[in-house]
Amino acid sequence: MDIKSLVSQMTLEEKAGLCSGDDFWHTKAVERLGIPRSMVSDGPHGLRKQDDKADHLGINDSIKAVCFPTACATAASFDPELIRAIGEAIGDSCQHERVSVVLGPAVNIKRSPLCGRNFEYFSEDPVLAGRMATAMIRGVQSRNVGTSIKHFALNSQEHRRMSSSSDADERTIREIYFPAFEMAVKEARPWTVMCSYNKVNGVFASENAWLLTDVLRKEWGFDGYTVSDWGAVSDRPAGVAAGLDLEMPASGGANDRKIVEAVRAGKLDEKLVDQACGRILEIVYRYLENAKPDTPWDMEAQHAQAAEAAAECMVLLKNDGDILPLSKEDRIAFIGEFAEKPRFQGGGSSHINCFRITGALEAAGSRGLQVEYARGYSVEKDEASETDIAAAAEAARHAKAAVVFAGLPDSYESEGYDRTHMRLPDCQRRVIEAVAAANPNTIVVLHNGAPVEMPWIGRVKAVVEAYLGGQAVGEAAVRVLFGDVNPCGHLPETFPLRLEDNPSFLFYGGEGNVTEYREGVFVGYRYYDKKRMEVLFPFGHGLSYTKFEYSGLKLSADRIRDTEELTATVTVKNTGNRAGKAVVQLYVGDVESTPIRPVRELKDFAKVLLQPGESREVSFTLGKRAFAYWNRQIHDWHVETGVFTVEAGGSSRDLPLRAEVTVESTTELPHRYTADSIIMDIMADPKAAPVLREYMQEAAGMFGNGGQDSGSDAAKEAISDEMNLAMMNYMPLRGAASLGGGSAEEVEKLVEMLNEA
Ligand code: BGC
Repeated sequence: MDIKSLVSQMTLEEKAGLCSGDDFWHTKAVERLGIPRSMVSDGPHGLRKQDDKADHLGINDSIKAVCFPTACATAASFDPELIRAIGEAIGDSCQHERVSVVLGPAVNIKRSPLCGRNFEYFSEDPVLAGRMATAMIRGVQSRNVGTSIKHFALNSQEHRRMSSSSDADERTIREIYFPAFEMAVKEARPWTVMCSYNKVNGVFASENAWLLTDVLRKEWGFDGYTVSDWGAVSDRPAGVAAGLDLEMPASGGANDRKIVEAVRAGKLDEKLVDQACGRILEIVYRYLENAKPDTPWDMEAQHAQAAEAAAECMVLLKNDGDILPLSKEDRIAFIGEFAEKPRFQGGGSSHINCFRITGALEAAGSRGLQVEYARGYSVEKDEASETDIAAAAEAARHAKAAVVFAGLPDSYESEGYDRTHMRLPDCQRRVIEAVAAANPNTIVVLHNGAPVEMPWIGRVKAVVEAYLGGQAVGEAAVRVLFGDVNPCGHLPETFPLRLEDNPSFLFYGGEGNVTEYREGVFVGYRYYDKKRMEVLFPFGHGLSYTKFEYSGLKLSADRIRDTEELTATVTVKNTGNRAGKAVVQLYVGDVESTPIRPVRELKDFAKVLLQPGESREVSFTLGKRAFAYWNRQIHDWHVETGVFTVEAGGSSRDLPLRAEVTVESTTELPHRYTADSIIMDIMADPKAAPVLREYMQEAAGMFGNGGQDSGSDAAKEAISDEMNLAMMNYMPLRGAASLGGGSAEEVEKLVEMLNEA
């Protein structure tokens, strides 16, 4: 299709019209020119296609579909191939249903355990989030269906999500909140990007030219269309000017008129409207020209895929005395309503109308296992009666082991609002404690989208974090509990001991409409590690029914320039007696650095299947970005010359291997000295330091103790040479005039010489 010519035939009104939706889920048609409507639909953990009763809050029904594990769970798999395959399945469903774009994945950073939408997000770590998003986009788009990576950007809370401004400094944005988008845009080329509701540093994302044009298109090369989150538009003409192509859903024509008026009044360049239309039509036709509505949608097969995937996502957090796996011969008690009706997805726009749901009780029953069930608590009433608790304890007492299915009910965790605390419902805590008192072999399976506090952790033998594992989560839980699957998930986030430990605790939610991201780059483990804090479970943690041993970390060089790549090789061995998957994690840290940096940051990982006794070498390639921080002076990535650690192992707090490499910067930071520049900074600059040193020797008086005889005994007693030197470090050049008796002219001359150097 010749899009340019198509746009040139459109009237201004038709073009303005195309810049917003026809209804909740369609772009507009222009019948005169044969341009059809095009459908987009929510997901992204399955397809949420609505027919007539449209809404974006998951209230009205959508067509029957399959709910795969949600993002919080798939991230725990640390397996991009797994989410890619899910993406392919969702792409097939979209083709079958004539949906051109699925609205996801969502890659916002899990800044606080409280965010109501954490279950839709991958991780507290940008590399993990980016890798998962990239793989998912590749999967969906391999089926010629678009994705809409969202919500760009800094949408890490639901509280006041449509009015609040997320205020963060440039370095924090670049190092923490952008990289997942950046990686996905550069490597997987999503067809569309959805902007967030919130403002970023005071400007709505939907009219933020820096986000939508400068960074997204000019820096990262995005070439699809940008779409507003549903209802995120405030000033539509400003949005068009900033690079927001499509407003969703419809504005009832009001904003179309505003665009027309702005163009007629000379306030908005018509070329920008043409550009938006061109970008929208490119995608409409990219889908259309390869639409395959005869693609089969095999829900049974997808249900089986969802079960397999969910099992790969489960994280074995604790397993004292190898209580797990359970024996199929033993009598086991299943306790808690979630055993019957699991919580496997979250509320809001991602809510899937599942064609089937498999709970753990049903899955155990279909295998003929000896499982006795006690409800324990009621999810709907959010209460546990004394009778229910007594029955649960009784069931536990007669069993070899008791499994409590616990977690957050829908009302605790949903799109649209945040949690107010990090606890499980009190009724569930009481059930866990009563069961643990009745049977020492108590196991807890958790269904939640983000960390919860576990005051009972010392009283139970094992904990399995199932996250929100999709519609087949019960099947997966039974496979893991009884050892058909060896758990291999790892935490994509830190579980702090208590909410107050979380770095965003003091500022999360903000004041009125301003939320300052004051913890900066110290999100998640970056903070807990720097503060050497005890945590409940660290980032990257996950046990297995077998054991892995890491050895032989080798670096391809002990010194590189920042334009060169470094290869790190690690050997991982399965030393246990059953097959299992290890997640090898690689972290980099800057040993000594001028910018204040985390101790270590995840740079790469690999999931490896190993038979008993088998070992494998895994290689990682580290480029400049692995060592760089965002430099605010040059507004670019910069590596500070020095020694870096490369650590490898099975979690952020289990890194038995460590090596060092010196990385040399090839970028010289610009120096501009003034009379306010301090001696220490000049001395750190290899070009300016000799000039200053020489000058200081010649004009010693100007830099001495105000002209006093520093060699006298009295002076030495008052201040040692070292102290004198240390204090001199912080002296500005102008001090040579005001304290050292030099003249302002001399200082000026010195500044000039330094700048010339
Ligand atoms: C959500 C988006 C979603 C959209 C359409 C919004 O409320 O924030 O994630 O894709 O609705 O349902």
